[in-house]
Amino acid sequence: MEDSFPFPVARIGLIGGGQLGRMMVKAAKRLGCTCVVLDPVLGSPAGQVAGHQIVGDYSDPAKLRELAESCDVVTFELEDIDTAPLLALEAEGHRIFPRPQLLATIQDKYLQKVFLRDAGIPTSAFIDMPSPDPEAFAEFGYPLVQKARRGGYDGRGVAVMPTAAAYPQHLPVAGYVERFVAADKELAVLVARNASGDCRVYPTVEMRFHADGNVLDYLFAPASVSADVAARAEALAVRTVEAMEGIGVFGVEMFLDAEGGLLVNEVAPRTHNSGHHTIEACVTDQFEQHLRAILDLPLGETRQLSPATMVNLLGEPGYRGRPIIAGLAATLAIPGVCLHIYGKAVTKPGRKMGHVTIIDDSVEAACEKASRVKQTIRILGDSKI
Ligand SMILES: Nc1ncnc2c1ncn2[C@@H]1O[C@H](COP(=O)(O)OP(=O)(O)OP(=O)(O)O)[C@@H](O)[C@H]1O
Ligand SMILES: [Mg+2]
Repeated sequence: MEDSFPFPVARIGLIGGGQLGRMMVKAAKRLGCTCVVLDPVLGSPAGQVAGHQIVGDYSDPAKLRELAESCDVVTFELEDIDTAPLLALEAEGHRIFPRPQLLATIQDKYLQKVFLRDAGIPTSAFIDMPSPDPEAFAEFGYPLVQKARRGGYDGRGVAVMPTAAAYPQHLPVAGYVERFVAADKELAVLVARNASGDCRVYPTVEMRFHADGNVLDYLFAPASVSADVAARAEALAVRTVEAMEGIGVFGVEMFLDAEGGLLVNEVAPRTHNSGHHTIEACVTDQFEQHLRAILDLPLGETRQLSPATMVNLLGEPGYRGRPIIAGLAATLAIPGVCLHIYGKAVTKPGRKMGHVTIIDDSVEAACEKASRVKQTIRILGDSKI
């Protein structure tokens, strides 16, 4: 294989200019790549770092064409993109990874479930529910979880229903219902796979969610599970991404039940919120790994060098407008704290404005510091609501 690369090593086209894109652009620059970002908001978090942004909708065929034509390879940091223009560009020879056909399967949660089931990947039982109907729900049986086919994220598009009394809270959209899993833990495993089919897996992490809002509250990296559970989770994640013939980094979310059984909940065809600690805690971070995968370069070592945790910094309720980071210096004074501010021009309640990774000798010690961090740093805004 030819092993000389003129600078830039590759021109990366990135659909979506949010925080995942921003961290990917930083990794791209380190590798000697340049980036063009497509995002509707000028000066998006990723666009600021890339220096080149096409302002337009993620699904605008003309903008997508402009992006593909100005780059060597196109990727994305979000799922809700119209795949028709991507399929057309791919058919013309543009390189787009993960492949648009796979994105089409994954972005429709029902099709994704069908794929997992047909591939023999353990996942909770489910039935199609194109239009919600109380009798069909009752016949499937409670407790159940109703999910929208498209457009859900951070728990939007998911309705957990313990009993029939919760039916009035159902989502009035096309979707499916699945068996509620009485999970002991929620685990996530990042897998990278390149076009040559090489795979690397990161150590299993555990996610604990905020009771309301469904945004990650605490991350345990590595997860506090037995070596056997971790090994089975990692093998299952690799099997899932191999079944998908995925190219790129994938976040495989799983449930661990009380008996030690693992069920795949869903797969994110992109870098994952549960993998931000890899920037400081692993030899190769998930963003660089994604680039290596889509450029078909050798994948990096995934070994974790230190226990870590991560907390998302969400816009404080009651505030909007220009972000004001309260408690920044006090946070930075805590040893092991790595602060990431996403550069969003405007805060609003619950919006992901940044994150903090905490490195320590044990996950427990890191989590203790994390709760101090949470009490110390606040993302306020310059207008009160
Ligand atoms: N079958 C289930 N049984 C029990 N809890 C579930 C089930 N499905 C989903 N949940 C809970 O709802 C959360 C969100 O579900 P899911 O991951 O499918 O949606 P999402 O909106 O795509 O999430 P995100 O964007 O946060 O990954 C899960 O993390 C889990 O806590
Ligand atoms: Mg999820």
